Amino acid sequence: MARASALVDGRAADRVAVTDRGLHYGDGLFETIAVRGRCPCLWQRHLERLALGCERLGIPVPAPDTLVAEARQLLDGADAADGVLKLILTRGSGARGYAAPPAPRPTRILSFHPGLPEPRRGTEAIIRLTLCETPLGDNARLAGIKHLNRLEQVLARAEWSDPRILDGIMSDGRGHPVCGTMSNIYVLDAAGIATPPLTRCGVAGTVRDVVRDCATALGIPFQERQLDLSDLHAADGLMMSNALLGLMPVGWLCEHRYSAGTVPAALIDRVRATALEPETLA
Ligand SMILES: Cc1ncc(COP(=O)(O)O)c(C=O)c1O
Repeated sequence: MARASALVDGRAADRVAVTDRGLHYGDGLFETIAVRGRCPCLWQRHLERLALGCERLGIPVPAPDTLVAEARQLLDGADAADGVLKLILTRGSGARGYAAPPAPRPTRILSFHPGLPEPRRGTEAIIRLTLCETPLGDNARLAGIKHLNRLEQVLARAEWSDPRILDGIMSDGRGHPVCGTMSNIYVLDAAGIATPPLTRCGVAGTVRDVVRDCATALGIPFQERQLDLSDLHAADGLMMSNALLGLMPVGWLCEHRYSAGTVPAALIDRVRATALEPETLA
């Protein structure tokens, strides 16, 4: 069985310092990247989101060349060609207490985990989602970035154990659905595609941008709009996306069934062709 492997600051390792602020405070960021044929998918978009997160949190951005070299080293030596590259960047070590070190030396952790979900073809809506009760906190300074504080998602994921359920939709404190625990969500109706704004909470998915670009290229209106639970039930179709699955039509939300074939096949195919296409590392 292929093993996970990791580099910490460019060296083969499987542990970090007990003083690391990522461990103490979740003071850092991460990216979860699909790898096919030893090459990462959506590499540039992942680096852009990481850079945005660094800017927000005041963490020095790692040099892209360093990340490319370390990703290349890890993927070339991996036991499998397909899998997940997880990139974690913390503010690094510091003295006890919240105050950040004046000149942080960030910790880079790159790990490779063999195995990827098989890309599904067509628009058959077989995915089942549930609704989570754990609310998302409201914080514009953290919204959109993929920071390491994921306790909301951990609590939400503990709300179901049915293996048929792939993800759970989380809402903000006022009950507006925002995203899945590991995905962005979209409703499809006569007006086109709508996805919740991510200005107060949620993660701005790399694939979410691809969905917007592909929908626009296909002439399908795409908008960010605050949704209610009733919008999810009234929609013709519901979709979810993330970097490992691409864009997927949803079949069930709890007991509510969406009819098959409402999501345009051209959109699904186009998004998958972009989001799940390996890029040359540069
Ligand atoms: C909370 C949350 N929202 C959205 C996403 C989708 O982001 P991406 O498309 O970059 O995978 C993820 C991915 O893990 C996530 O955890």
